[in-house]
Amino acid sequence: MRVRHFRTEDLPAVLALWNRCMGEQFPLDAPLFEQNVLKDAHFDPEAVWVAEDERGNLLAYAHAKVCKEPLGSAGMFPEQGWVGALAFEPDDAGLEAGRAVLQTALDWLKAQGRKRVSYGSDPAHLFPGVPAEQTLHQQLLQEAGFTISDHIVVDLVRDLADYRVPDEVEANLQRLREEYIIRSCTPQDVPALLRFLQQEFPGRWYYETVKRLDVEDTPRDILILVHGDEVHGFCHTFWRGSKRIGPSIYWRGLLGEAYGGLGPIGVAASTRGKGLGLALLCKGVEYVKSQGATRMAIDWTDLVDFYGKIGFRVWKRYHSASLSL
Ligand SMILES: CC(C)(COP(=O)(O)OP(=O)(O)OC[C@H]1O[C@@H](n2cnc3c(N)ncnc32)[C@H](O)[C@@H]1OP(=O)(O)O)[C@@H](O)C(=O)NCCC(=O)NCCS
Repeated sequence: MRVRHFRTEDLPAVLALWNRCMGEQFPLDAPLFEQNVLKDAHFDPEAVWVAEDERGNLLAYAHAKVCKEPLGSAGMFPEQGWVGALAFEPDDAGLEAGRAVLQTALDWLKAQGRKRVSYGSDPAHLFPGVPAEQTLHQQLLQEAGFTISDHIVVDLVRDLADYRVPDEVEANLQRLREEYIIRSCTPQDVPALLRFLQQEFPGRWYYETVKRLDVEDTPRDILILVHGDEVHGFCHTFWRGSKRIGPSIYWRGLLGEAYGGLGPIGVAASTRGKGLGLALLCKGVEYVKSQGATRMAIDWTDLVDFYGKIGFRVWKRYHSASLSL
């Protein structure tokens, strides 16, 4: 077995390995791999590895990331590195190969001067942490010195056939309609949206919104909560017409052809507690349904009760996993 850098021609074999090992829970396709790894701003060709046996069969895959551009006001995370994903055959040879690519990734991160490493949660992440059901991944991470936290974050899912905005939410919006409106973002709204994000969510959510606006033909899949000339809330939505494969639709292969997703969502601190966050969520889900989606997900949250109010249920669970180098 030997570890070497990933080459472009490995792509089909890496996807085949990944989908053999974890495709039932996390089906990976070329567009998502290219977007989040090969074409991501934080991609480094020196930080993507495969392990193969003497006949050239791939046994394991891993990539690592360090920040290459600031994540908005959160900056460059100079001491932080990430192992973005690890895939390996679930047999003895695969486990050995998995250990080897993981160690190679950690050695590379150390050589980059990183003091802390997390599994997942990287810029353009694939996973917010290590999936709860991936006990072999957790075993390899623990062997390498990672601490697996008890804290769980989740993805949520809902079928949309019976979805409608609850009457009390519509009534609340009616009551507040002189002051607040929820609608799709237009190109003219973008400066106000970015001002709002810089004020309220200046880190990763600002950064990811700017990145998304770069690739979408129109900003209309972002819903905004408008107050006069100002934006007071935002909600990203995704469906099959979206150009950016947002985190809520990464695993769209499991959601069916008419897939949808939502998040991040946020309301200005001064505007919270008026029912407008819930209204933005409800209108976001209604918008996704109006684009033809029949099943949708919300990713990376611990607000199970908030989203549970309109019928979202836990779909996937992840533990944070981190290591001091
Ligand atoms: C989460 C957020 C969008 C909620 O918006 P909001 O305007 O404060 O909430 P609302 O006034 O619409 O609350 C509606 C209901 O949801 C509940 N709720 C609000 N925030 C909640 C939370 N964090 N956890 C659980 N329930 C929550 C409220 O108690 C209320 O319930 P009630 O009607 O039974 O009293 C807002 O707090 C926010 O922007 N937070 C920071 C960003 C964030 O965490 N986004 C979600 C990331 S996954």
